[in-house]
Amino acid sequence: MPKYKAIEPIKIENRQWPDSQINSSPRWCAVDLRDGNQALPNPLTLDQKKEYYQLLLDIGFKEIEVGFPSASKDDFDFCRWLIDENRIPDDVMISVLAPSRPDLITKTMEALKGYPKALVHIYVATSDLHREHVLGKTREETIKIVHASIATIKECAANQPETRFYLEFSPEEFTDTDLDFAIEVCDDVVEQWDPQEGETVILNLPATVERRPPTHYADMIEVFMKKLKTKQAVISLHAHNDMGCAVASTEMALQAGAHRVEGTLFGHGERSGNVDMVTLILNLQYMGVDTGIDFSNLVEINETISRLTQMRPHPRHPYVGDLVFSAFSGSHQDAIHKCLVRKDEMMEHFGQWKIPYLHVDPADVGRNFEKFIRINSQSGKGGIAHMIELEHQIKLPREFQVTLAKAVQAYAEDVSREITSDELTNVFRENFMEAKSPIELVKYWPYPDEKKPSDIHGKVELLYNGEARTLEADEDGPIAAFVAACRQLDIPSFELVKYEEDSLGHGAKSEAVTFVTIKCSEKVFYGIGTHSNIDQAAVKAVVAALNNMLNNG
Ligand code: KIV
Ligand code: ZN
Repeated sequence: MPKYKAIEPIKIENRQWPDSQINSSPRWCAVDLRDGNQALPNPLTLDQKKEYYQLLLDIGFKEIEVGFPSASKDDFDFCRWLIDENRIPDDVMISVLAPSRPDLITKTMEALKGYPKALVHIYVATSDLHREHVLGKTREETIKIVHASIATIKECAANQPETRFYLEFSPEEFTDTDLDFAIEVCDDVVEQWDPQEGETVILNLPATVERRPPTHYADMIEVFMKKLKTKQAVISLHAHNDMGCAVASTEMALQAGAHRVEGTLFGHGERSGNVDMVTLILNLQYMGVDTGIDFSNLVEINETISRLTQMRPHPRHPYVGDLVFSAFSGSHQDAIHKCLVRKDEMMEHFGQWKIPYLHVDPADVGRNFEKFIRINSQSGKGGIAHMIELEHQIKLPREFQVTLAKAVQAYAEDVSREITSDELTNVFRENFMEAKSPIELVKYWPYPDEKKPSDIHGKVELLYNGEARTLEADEDGPIAAFVAACRQLDIPSFELVKYEEDSLGHGAKSEAVTFVTIKCSEKVFYGIGTHSNIDQAAVKAVVAALNNMLNNG
């Protein structure tokens, strides 16, 4: 007998959901403090729950499941603290989970005493697997359990008139339940609760264990909503992530018409977790949906949640992982560099954010100061140039980029790891700026020639192989005079083939940067010089290029 089989599809006619789009936000319910917490190796302490709860409020959640008061003293105490200390804003609805057992429901209702409005969430397993093999109940007995639970809530509610109670019901293992039976139970729940006109019952339809592909979840939601008799229901999703598809399942089920989503930040929850609200909500925001949730501070949110749960999201976790906005490969770096420096222009051109390899603007999730381009042996000239521009404000000409990329690649291969900004700077300086021997410039002062003022008289003091030399030459410009003076040294003949200037920064205080290319026996050598004086920047660049020639020629 095969251990695994094809998963039976859902019977559905005239399927609609693939053609629909998510245009508006569902209601969000954070279940971190209940489903998330119950799966933590070290559950949250009371103080940690308070901090987590405040964070959920700050992010903008208006529905928060705060615990399982009948199962945990900490959860009971937390619920009491929220109510006794008046910590629930008027526009926020808290809920608590209770199993379908009268004694535990009674205890749960005590946790809510004194609060003006509260949502009680009960559940019972409806799948054949659970019903028959775990609970040992028939379908009829299961329905009776639910009736008894609702009756208990109503009895307790009658003794707590200061509170307006609302009901949420979950047929646990919904996606493994016979769909007609799930619909029968849910219609019955709404009938038993008998909500007032204009009020609703939340029917939360969990993929308690993800046993089906996302398309099946969407099919089930579409059929459920079509066949459900009552109109007084809010259809809520609660996907777990055993097959790694919880976000996709939830998005498709929203396309199928669901109204509300339960999940946790970064997907904390049993086994592979609950649906990750961060990915899901940011996906919707990326589709232009106003979700009412603020993740602009995601870096800080991550720090707080990682500390509280003692678990950090994977480095490649969408939107939040340490590496998700990093490019190591040369071609990706090139593309990012080309477009990121023109991001406003790109925005204008496309009428929306569009940058290669960055599907959202990292700044929107708090990644403002990040190095999107990171350097290792696979990096290319574009990425390396981007980093040099970022760190030193130097825009490297193309041929300098090519030379530097080769040097950086060799260095990274040598150390066999990613290289730091400091190391990149060192390679850059060593290659273009820092060769100090055999020529070391001591002083250069150019001034107009007394006899022929249109010419420049250049006087150079330098050390050549450690020996002090003074060289003089007259030319039509300060750089030409310097080069002519250097030619008097006993060095191979060379030609100054290219000379480019730029500035570092803006305004009066900006420094000059000069790029010099010299040629000697068909080989080219490069040098860069920076200085507040443009002539001094140029001669530093010539000296660096000459030293490169003399050391490597
Ligand atoms: O996953 C699940 O089925 C649950 C229910 C209690 C809603 O967490
Ligand atoms: Zn769950």
